[in-house]
Amino acid sequence: MNTSREHWGSRLGFVMAAAGSAVGLGNIWRFPYTAGENGGGAFLLIYLAIVAVFGVSLLLAEVLIGRSTQRNPVGALARLGGRWWSLVGLLGVLTGFVILSFYVVVAGWTVAYIGFAASGALSSTDPATLGALFQAFVGSFWSPLLYALFFMVLVALTVSGGVARGIERANKVLMPLLFLLLLALVAHALTLDGSGAGVAFLLQPDFSKVTGATFSAALAQAFFSLSLGMGCMLTYGSYLSAHDRLGVATTSIISLDVLAAILAGLAIMPVVFAFGFNPEAGAGLTFITLPAAFAAMPGGAYIGPLFFLLLTVAALTSAISILEPAISFLTDERGWTRRRTVFVCAAVCLLLSVPSSLSMGAVDGLTLVGRSFFDAMDFAATNVMMPLGALLTAVFVGWVWGAGALNALSDGRPIAWWARAWLFVLRFVAPPALLLIFLQSTGVL
Ligand code: TRP
Repeated sequence: MNTSREHWGSRLGFVMAAAGSAVGLGNIWRFPYTAGENGGGAFLLIYLAIVAVFGVSLLLAEVLIGRSTQRNPVGALARLGGRWWSLVGLLGVLTGFVILSFYVVVAGWTVAYIGFAASGALSSTDPATLGALFQAFVGSFWSPLLYALFFMVLVALTVSGGVARGIERANKVLMPLLFLLLLALVAHALTLDGSGAGVAFLLQPDFSKVTGATFSAALAQAFFSLSLGMGCMLTYGSYLSAHDRLGVATTSIISLDVLAAILAGLAIMPVVFAFGFNPEAGAGLTFITLPAAFAAMPGGAYIGPLFFLLLTVAALTSAISILEPAISFLTDERGWTRRRTVFVCAAVCLLLSVPSSLSMGAVDGLTLVGRSFFDAMDFAATNVMMPLGALLTAVFVGWVWGAGALNALSDGRPIAWWARAWLFVLRFVAPPALLLIFLQSTGVL
């Protein structure tokens, strides 16, 4: 074993970094529009229930594997389960590259939009005008690529600083900043005339909109938002020391992630409703509907750039964590230096992001199995690779590691009732539910 393995400076540092991983584009860009498309309050309730049962169990499982083995995803599963199970770790490392290939493209847009919002380029209240502007930007050749490159350089610089001095230090500054920005935006949104309708939309459940698809949308959103199913939380857990307690840490991470999603909804929906826009606008909500509302709003010229800065910060702390399993794998198992690994992995991610970005309109024919390259990567990661990784992780901890996992969790103390409940969920509840969702979201069912 690599005896010089790096560790977090403190347990609070771990919580901040893991919350930084969890809170990202998933909370601020994806959650509000997904809730909007799926019935608002009813979706929120289902989402909370899914997080409480599946999110908590899988987060604890991943962090526990990392803490116990002190290894990267591949080495960790090889040690606990042997060679075949280590392939699940490898699947996770590969999933990271697939996720980053589109994540850095969207993150690049958010960087660009800080400038657009500040320069007044977005000062139109007409969603059609803003939609055309958005299409023209994401469909151009160089500009989105350069913003993605800039963002990737920020990620690489942070990660090459190491665990405590790079990742932890960045998160300790950026996470409080993120929550401050979010609270300021919510406070402002709630003072608008007519904001009540937006709050009601988000918090009042309308069960007539609930279907089977609502559940799979909520589950996919929960896993993406909590960074589960690809060894991200496993890797962060491996930088804890072997006997750090996990209960408070995991509950804090989950609470911060849920809080950030709800706050993002409260920052966005009141604004959308107050100015009479459509909350079900889908993926364009952030880049098209919201700027229109900002333009219609007093003080919007300041709120707009702040909002996109918030989004960039959230994306940065998440992108860092998506890269880390690969870094940890190559430094642990191949003995590469961190710097060399970061350079190589960042370059590979950037290469993959080029077709993603160009498939948004700049170049025709960049398609895979009938989708644009960008959508194909998103679909492969979010609907196939992550649910599969999560399913296999649940089966592994529940059935293969089993009693060993309970002992590791209890760490010498008597086994608590909640630890048994946790194992029960991993054995009997999570696998069938994840299988069902997996089959549904891949279109088999
Ligand atoms: N959770 C992040 C978000 O909400 C994205 C993310 C970070 C992620 N690490 C991950 C998603 C690992 C899937 C797997 O934006």
